Amino acid sequence: MSTASTAPPSDTDANWWRSAVVYQVYVRSFADSDGDGSGDLNGIRDRLPYLRDLGVDALWLTPFYRSPMVDGGYDVADYRDIDPIFGNLADFDAMIGTAHTLGLRIIVDIVPNHTSDAHPWFVEALAAAPGSVERERYLFRDGRGENGELPPNDWESIFGGPAWTRVPDGQWYLHLFDPAQPDLNWRNPEVRTEFEDILRFWLDRGVDGFRIDVAHGMIKAEGLPDVGRTSADGSPQIALLGRGRLPYFDQDEVHDIYRAWRPILDSYPGGRMAVAEAWAETPQRLARYIGPDELHQAFSFDFLDATWSADSFHKVIDTALAESTIVGAPTTWVLSNHDKPRHVTRYGDGPVGLRRARAAALLMLALPGCAYLYQGEELGLPEVLDLPDELRQDPAFLRTGQTRDGCRVPLPWSGDLPPYGFGPQGCESSWLPAPTTWAKLSVAAQTGDPASTLELYRAALHIRRAHPALTIEDTGTGSLTWLPAEPGVLAFTRTADAPGSPELVCVVNFSDAPIQVAGYGNSIVASAPLGQQDGEPMLPVDAAAWFERPQLG
Ligand code: GLC
Ligand code: MG
Repeated sequence: MSTASTAPPSDTDANWWRSAVVYQVYVRSFADSDGDGSGDLNGIRDRLPYLRDLGVDALWLTPFYRSPMVDGGYDVADYRDIDPIFGNLADFDAMIGTAHTLGLRIIVDIVPNHTSDAHPWFVEALAAAPGSVERERYLFRDGRGENGELPPNDWESIFGGPAWTRVPDGQWYLHLFDPAQPDLNWRNPEVRTEFEDILRFWLDRGVDGFRIDVAHGMIKAEGLPDVGRTSADGSPQIALLGRGRLPYFDQDEVHDIYRAWRPILDSYPGGRMAVAEAWAETPQRLARYIGPDELHQAFSFDFLDATWSADSFHKVIDTALAESTIVGAPTTWVLSNHDKPRHVTRYGDGPVGLRRARAAALLMLALPGCAYLYQGEELGLPEVLDLPDELRQDPAFLRTGQTRDGCRVPLPWSGDLPPYGFGPQGCESSWLPAPTTWAKLSVAAQTGDPASTLELYRAALHIRRAHPALTIEDTGTGSLTWLPAEPGVLAFTRTADAPGSPELVCVVNFSDAPIQVAGYGNSIVASAPLGQQDGEPMLPVDAAAWFERPQLG
């Protein structure tokens, strides 16, 4: 493999991830190069200039490995190969080579908690006898009850129903997600060695980092004890996620795995990093995943879950920054991803939701640390709520009625009709249909329109890259100072170390009346046009703006 084309943008900037903006690509729905209705690696490669011009630093690609696609590729059958619907390894090498040439880094998704049931290891485990080394790679157990007819414990699948499925010889295997996603046994050294080797495989191909799927799940409590509550009692276990103790999540020994992974990442040049999708009972426990001997980042899902109010955002920002300060790592902000309804819709949908989403973007991008964008948020896409049931693909849908398909609809690029340039010219297919109302939301329709959400993101991202108050490396509360503000308003400054350089003020109006902003300096970007009252500038309702002013004092 040529190292020239896969060299990351700057080998010297090992801390690039501390203040990066990372754009999450849901590969199947980003861009389709071959017209089969599914996004692919060549589609990403073709659109890399769009992402460079948008002003992001890196891409996180959701899984593109060989997979039966029961859970959109989070069911991996071969961790060292590309699924044919997405391309092949040569396409991957070409894509990462182009990305690096354009100064973009590539983070790939690694799924260590479970494999697909089509993975050779699981196929072998099913063919082997209870107690065999093949079964020891997964969590096979005998059942309870007189004839083992009851699951080994009371654990519930995140996708609904019991977390155990029985195999023909009578044993049961654990799957915290779909039955097609058997959980690996991370107490087995063979599993650990295998994944360390998989990390090296992709690091050797030039990836700049990993997003670790279900990073809190790999170790289960010894003896697999009952949780003691189930959906049958009216309180599903999933309600404890991130709020309570669960014997299958956030066990202390999971940290041993990351302490073994970190030296592997550090042995490669250029700042290879890892970000955890982890849920823990408290922010303190979440912070344990990050630090110099474990992972680099953990998503701040409290920020994603914050409701639209000044108090709610103020609280989660303070908590996240305080934790970051303790561990000396930057905070990792995120508003949307492929598992949650898009924030336009969470904040009220329609014009109100869009206004608030635009304001939230300016809030997030002004905060210290790293920000993750989810594809399409720069277009102000709403959640698609009216997908016909028969087209839904989320495995959770059948069991819970919940679906994550509405945020996974292919991106609109251009044109008047679905799928809006998602595939090659004239191609009409897309694996999920885009709404007929999205023509005005396409990249082409928004480009050059200063009032568009796309141009707002472009403007904000370009300021973020260039402004001394936003480019400083930060490890927590360092450069954020809250300003006194009336109820329903958040205002804070970011300040660069360099004497004489202007400070940046971010003001967000969550209240139900416009507010005066004369004292904050010159507005440099706003999510909605500022108003005027008695000759003074006013920030409207559900809006945010960035101001620049000389450093005080
Ligand atoms: C993570 C992924 C989600 C997937 C699940 C199982 O939560 O983000 O999409 O379904 O893990 O792998
Ligand atoms: Mg395709």
